[in-house]
Amino acid sequence: MARQNQIIVGLDIGTSKIACIVAEAGPDGRLDIVGIGTHPSHGLRRGVVVNIESTIESIRLAVEEAELMADVDIKKVYVGIAGSHIRGYNSHGVVATKSGEVTEEDVTRVIEAAKAMNIPADQKILHIIPQEYIIDRQDGIREPVGMCGVRLETRVHVITGAVSSAQNIIKSCNRCDLDVSDIVLEQIASSEAVLSQDEKDIGVLLVDIGGGTTDLAVFIDGAIRHTSVIPVGGDHLTNDLVAGLRTSAREADILKKKFGSCMSSMIRPEETVEVPRVGGRPSQSMPRQVMAQLLEPRMQELFELVREELDRSGYRELVAAGVVLTGGSSLLEGAQELADEIFELPVRIGRPQNIGGLVGVVNSPIFSTGVGLIQYGYRYRADKSLRMDESGGGSFFASIKRWFGGGE
Ligand SMILES: Nc1ncnc2c1ncn2[C@@H]1O[C@H](COP(=O)(O)OP(=O)(O)OP(=O)(O)O)[C@@H](O)[C@H]1O
Ligand SMILES: [Mg+2]
Repeated sequence: MARQNQIIVGLDIGTSKIACIVAEAGPDGRLDIVGIGTHPSHGLRRGVVVNIESTIESIRLAVEEAELMADVDIKKVYVGIAGSHIRGYNSHGVVATKSGEVTEEDVTRVIEAAKAMNIPADQKILHIIPQEYIIDRQDGIREPVGMCGVRLETRVHVITGAVSSAQNIIKSCNRCDLDVSDIVLEQIASSEAVLSQDEKDIGVLLVDIGGGTTDLAVFIDGAIRHTSVIPVGGDHLTNDLVAGLRTSAREADILKKKFGSCMSSMIRPEETVEVPRVGGRPSQSMPRQVMAQLLEPRMQELFELVREELDRSGYRELVAAGVVLTGGSSLLEGAQELADEIFELPVRIGRPQNIGGLVGVVNSPIFSTGVGLIQYGYRYRADKSLRMDESGGGSFFASIKRWFGGGE
């Protein structure tokens, strides 16, 4: 198909939904959203594929819907990876330059040196993100090539993930006849979509609150400094309502989205909600405040865990631009206000930015990862064509070696 060359597709395999977003890249570098398909996801737990068959089915349906809408044949996708198996480390490398002037080759060598660290056998490197270069003790350099100096150092953020999790993602896509151009850490993708360059330069904490996990990323001086995953998300809020209201998970999720709040102080005492009951019993009217009192402690606990993680990272004093919340659960009423109170920093809700086309359909924190995957793919043009053959053998490992060895 003629348009295929300029088409970039992001596939967000989330715990709650699979979203396939299609964009067309214009000659001026503009990305226009031309299609989207979403389908509920049932094969993941806490961000990790646990049921391949049901994941494949959901991917297939989401991709078909996006193909119809965009009128394209999707062959390649950028996919996200998340889960508690993800680890982030800061590392450091040093080399002597060969000619007294930094070359591309010196930069490759210094990144290789920073990569030389002990990684558990079941983990592999997903990303190596340079934070800064230091030439003859002059730090804060972003573009070292061409500069004079004999000693080149770099500080990098290294992200590793479980090989098996990556394999299951690639396998699920391949079974849907999709090639994986690259696997991207979900909060890196989301940050492409919702953070401005200014925020990354000044210092910012991104908090992507999905269904199964909450993914964090800290940016300071334009580079990623810290990443982590908290295994708590919107599904926990829904479960709290199931237990507290004695209703089904489906009804609880609908009630949470329509009437939920995590700031009970913002709700007038006379506001009531009709709660459907299980087993054909009549629905029951109850104060909205009671529902908020069920959600508030969980959201508070989640933000406190995020704050502890920020303290542990050592960057609390440096995130001067504050906190950006994204992911579906950032839509819960009162999330921004509660986060304001707990972080004592400016808080905003992040939605996908810097895109054209069908902006209205992706203008939600739910689509931050999916849109960000497209922006990441376009920016780095990292088409590594990861494939796993039917036997699950040889060629996959060859490509995974290239992928893991390939840096960002
Ligand atoms: N308006 C809303 N108010 C409150 N919660 C909402 C709202 N809309 C969606 N959610 C919740 O957001 C969650 C889904 O968010 P999202 O689509 O970002 O998750 P995901 O990417 O599928 O999951 P994960 O990133 O954890 O794998 C669900 O728990 C859902 O109930
Ligand atoms: Mg998500």
